[in-house]
Amino acid sequence: MAIQSLLFLSLSLFLFHLNPSSAQTPVKAGYWSSDSEFQVSNINSALFTHLFCAFADLNNQSNQVTIDPNSATLFSTFTQTVQQKNPNVKTLLSIGGGNSNSTSFAAMASQPGSRKSFIDSSIQLARSNGFHGLDLDWEYPETSTDMANLGTLLTEWRAAVRSESSSTGSVELLLTAAMGFSSIHDSESYPVSIVRDSLDWVNVMAYDFKGPNWSNVSTGAPAGLYDPDSEFSGSAGVDKWIGSGMVEEKMVLGLPLYGYAWKLVDAASHGIGAPADGKASGEGISSDDGSISYNQILDQFINGAGASSEYDGSRVTNYCYSGTTWIGYDDVQSIAAKVSYAKGKGLLGYFVWSVSGDDGNWVLCQTASQTWN
Ligand SMILES: *[C@@H]1O[C@H](CO)[C@@H](O)[C@H](O)[C@H]1NC(C)=O
Ligand SMILES: *[C@@H]1O[C@H](CO)[C@@H](O)[C@H](O)[C@H]1NC(C)=O
Ligand SMILES: *[C@@H]1O[C@H](CO)[C@@H](O)[C@H](O)[C@H]1NC(C)=O
Ligand SMILES: *[C@@H]1O[C@H](CO)[C@@H](O)[C@H](O)[C@H]1NC(C)=O
Repeated sequence: MAIQSLLFLSLSLFLFHLNPSSAQTPVKAGYWSSDSEFQVSNINSALFTHLFCAFADLNNQSNQVTIDPNSATLFSTFTQTVQQKNPNVKTLLSIGGGNSNSTSFAAMASQPGSRKSFIDSSIQLARSNGFHGLDLDWEYPETSTDMANLGTLLTEWRAAVRSESSSTGSVELLLTAAMGFSSIHDSESYPVSIVRDSLDWVNVMAYDFKGPNWSNVSTGAPAGLYDPDSEFSGSAGVDKWIGSGMVEEKMVLGLPLYGYAWKLVDAASHGIGAPADGKASGEGISSDDGSISYNQILDQFINGAGASSEYDGSRVTNYCYSGTTWIGYDDVQSIAAKVSYAKGKGLLGYFVWSVSGDDGNWVLCQTASQTWN
């Protein structure tokens, strides 16, 4: 018996060393946004290991992190609500977001006193609201000074959560950040070695490569994993991060649960790269940037209008078209291919933006989770 146990132990250790990444628990994460008005209690948290509650704000006067009073109850009950369906799910309070003012983040990060206000208030808010971690969504640091200050902020933030944990005896807060798809953002480099050493992981925002508001003369894959014609793709970004010194096991690949709708110049020309005339308008497209959630694409175009749907495996994107409306988006095939890529590449996992975009049966999040297993 003892010898059998010993043999088993040796075998386990051997296998562990053979393939250490197999022992790492994958991150299967999702952001919930208070803007979505999607009920927190309707999140199928069994499909996730981590859920991000978005967004807390940065006050540009006090440099403290705050929660909008209208969201206070949703945020303070977020953890207990999502743990009803999955007691093991971990939650993080996400700060900032695409609609926040990047100038305020730059100003905060530039001075020791304002960094301290930010850091101390973030930890206090995470603890008082029952979150397991904090996530920074500064979109985006713009200058080399911003990038250097971001590095200082992250170093001080990690030291502060470590010290808080040892002085209170609580489990250390998780620290993550959502960053650009590439380690180079608008020709400025993220402070990669600090990012690697101070964060638990980075959420790589591998989407919004093409959209009708900024690539308006032809259709394109909004979040392609590959792009034969440019460096704007998920895999090119991940390779840039790795080439700059990031480690695979601290990268989590972003999957968008939305697409973008273009207006075709000619309904008969409906491939990727077909001539377009800006964003689609009219029924079904209510956003001002042409974005549309996966469930609306299904309801209004694929099931509703009988749009033809196709998959392009060379870029890893789905698209559908009906009349002169053309939508590039992620469906079951592209989600599965991206998750296979992430796992094969040795990344830590994936996240979705955002959980409210999935269909009523969680088909995309189910696909992602099952593909990883
Ligand atoms: C600070 O934020 C408030 C509220 O968002 C905004 O109205 C104001 O313009 C900002 N002030 C500065 C100096 O950024
Ligand atoms: C962002 O903040 C800066 C200063 O902090 C302010 O000048 C600017 O107006 C703000 N922008 C928006 C869109 O609120
Ligand atoms: C496309 O973008 C260009 C440059 O921003 C702009 O001048 C043009 O009006 C846009 N066209 C459409 C159809 O949105
Ligand atoms: C997108 O472009 C339209 C005009 O075509 C404009 O009204 C809208 O504000 C733009 N949205 C964003 C998010 O840039």
